[in-house]
Amino acid sequence: MRSPAPKESEARPRALLMCPPDYFEVAYEINPWMHVERKVDAAKAKTQWRKYYELLTGTLSVKVELMAPVRGLPDMVFTANGGLVRKRTFIRSNFRHKERRGEETHYETWFRKNGYIVKKIERPFAFEGEGDALFMGSELYTGFHFRSDVEAHDEISGLLGVPYFAIELADKRFYHLDTCFAPLNETSALFYLEAFEPYAQLVLLESVSDPIRVPEEEALRFACNAVVLGTNVVMPEGCPKTAGELEKRGFRVYALDFSEFMKAGGAAKCLALQL
Ligand code: ARG
Repeated sequence: MRSPAPKESEARPRALLMCPPDYFEVAYEINPWMHVERKVDAAKAKTQWRKYYELLTGTLSVKVELMAPVRGLPDMVFTANGGLVRKRTFIRSNFRHKERRGEETHYETWFRKNGYIVKKIERPFAFEGEGDALFMGSELYTGFHFRSDVEAHDEISGLLGVPYFAIELADKRFYHLDTCFAPLNETSALFYLEAFEPYAQLVLLESVSDPIRVPEEEALRFACNAVVLGTNVVMPEGCPKTAGELEKRGFRVYALDFSEFMKAGGAAKCLALQL
């Protein structure tokens, strides 16, 4: 059975946190998309980011908070990895790679200043925020293996008092959960099934009553790295099959060019953290 799209009020985040791409570049390689010799066109990246920001704040009337970019932390533009927000609690990330650990204190400071209760997971466990932890209704889906550890997710579920489904990632091109899974509402989600371990595939097929299975060629264009705002979905362009499935279910799709950010392994979702 097809599920109706959510009411506008239901699934909209209160606000999003973004960070302008002033210092964005591919300066190191920590995922298979990144190649230091494939340089980012800085002007193009700024234009793409601006268009996205303007779509969110203008047409879609979303409140977007901004964090100041920091020189030497090029991936800080991917705010979704900074942590996970639930009401007024912020669980700060422990980045897997040393290249991104410098971002941690900046997130912590921003959230403290903005009145959140900040919590952390004990190292050595890694946790990369919303990149690997997404709410579908009141249930938390967590992706582990490449960037986050299941032990961290277990602790987070306890800290937040929410149940969770830990699903193991299996394809290093889809190193974060938000590169291959996007909840749309309580019953429907986009996912690229083959990015998951066999048991995780079963969990997804069992628990998502109206799945939209994204084909590989569109998953590789980051179709699942979508931001869902009520009945509006912002996703990368070049994913007509996925967009068509969304439209059939009553969603309005806004497809944008994120090509410069894909050089670093991210697109729409990675660039915005839900507040
Ligand atoms: N270059 C970044 C990294 O590898 C990209 C992060 C993309 N973010 C995401 N939520 N998938 O850490």
